[in-house]
Amino acid sequence: MTPRVKRTYGSRAARPPIPSSPPSDLYSSPPTLKRKRPLADSATVSNAPPAKKQHHTAKPPAKSQLKTRKGKEPPKQKKFTQLHFSLDTTVLRTCPLCDLSYTKGAPDDESLHKKHCVRVQRGLEWGKDEEREVGKVGVEEIATGLKLKSGVKGRIICFRPDVGGKIGAKLTTLLETIRLALSSPPLSRAVLKHSKFYLFLLPSTSNSTNTAPSARETIVGCVIAQRISTAMAVASDADLSPSGARTHMSLISVDTSTNLYVRPAPLPTPLGIPRLFVSSSHRRLGIASHLLSAAASTFILGCPLDPAKGEVAFTQPTGAGKAVLEVWGKGGVRIYEEEQRLG
Ligand SMILES: CC(C)(COP(=O)(O)OP(=O)(O)OC[C@H]1O[C@@H](n2cnc3c(N)ncnc32)[C@H](O)[C@@H]1OP(=O)(O)O)[C@@H](O)C(=O)NCCC(=O)NCCS
Repeated sequence: MTPRVKRTYGSRAARPPIPSSPPSDLYSSPPTLKRKRPLADSATVSNAPPAKKQHHTAKPPAKSQLKTRKGKEPPKQKKFTQLHFSLDTTVLRTCPLCDLSYTKGAPDDESLHKKHCVRVQRGLEWGKDEEREVGKVGVEEIATGLKLKSGVKGRIICFRPDVGGKIGAKLTTLLETIRLALSSPPLSRAVLKHSKFYLFLLPSTSNSTNTAPSARETIVGCVIAQRISTAMAVASDADLSPSGARTHMSLISVDTSTNLYVRPAPLPTPLGIPRLFVSSSHRRLGIASHLLSAAASTFILGCPLDPAKGEVAFTQPTGAGKAVLEVWGKGGVRIYEEEQRLG
């Protein structure tokens, strides 16, 4: 049996959606209702309003009533109807814009979803408060005046994950947004320790109708770059072809939905990309490519890395991530396991 690469994120459709919070008992509809009483008992109980009490009056019974009472058969007991309070309609919704599953009607869930959805679509604000701390925590400006396909210009900044203060708080929110968007586990301390964050900032427009830039900026993309030691080469089309069947047997399947296989031999590789994210309204403008190029050229001081030569690796990529790695990496990007010991 071929060993499988430990999955990080990707092939999201194959997994159940991650709810924004555990579904609330008050609002959600569990598939099997817990019954406090066994069914046999409840069948004798009706949810119908109780029958009106018979009032005994001094008035003598009517003739017809007397006739019934005198009959041989005992009076039939009224048939009760079991009524159910139907909770069949599911309240767990998956937002088509941000893909988050949340409990509709639960105020906490709704508000979490609202905030997350805006961040996934438009990004996070990079305001004056963050900018004021830039010098204090060692934020570097890596590139400026980067022109996107839309014509708008942005810049790339870089810093280490141990920044505190406002930037640290912003980073926590950004990581959580990416984690939810990719349905991925949080990055471990060990990974963060050897990582750098690259953010793409665009000038914010004051509102949706006014396109004039304001003093503030928006974080529209993020690449996390991690120091690693080894990665595996992606299998070529020839490896996967029927004539390459023998090689195919020894390949490791990373993601069958995107037909991604790797050759098992670990190859020395200095840079890993455990997370890559661009807000949805800014995709296909070249932001991910700019961020990756910035990371490859500055991650190791004075030693620019070339993805085409296999010096950059991704963890298990999503479909869009695979498309980026193929185009940007010119076929040389490798695949690695996020948690690895550094020599
Ligand atoms: C994957 C992602 C980061 C790409 O960001 P991006 O800024 O749109 O990427 P780029 O504009 O630099 O794309 C470069 C090239 O990659 C390819 N590409 C990017 N996204 C693609 C997609 N969804 N489908 C097909 N090809 C795609 C294209 O060839 C593109 O060039 P083109 O636009 O000139 O055709 C972004 O779609 C995203 O954040 N997705 C959700 C999270 C995710 O899947 N992350 C990847 C984890 S590995």
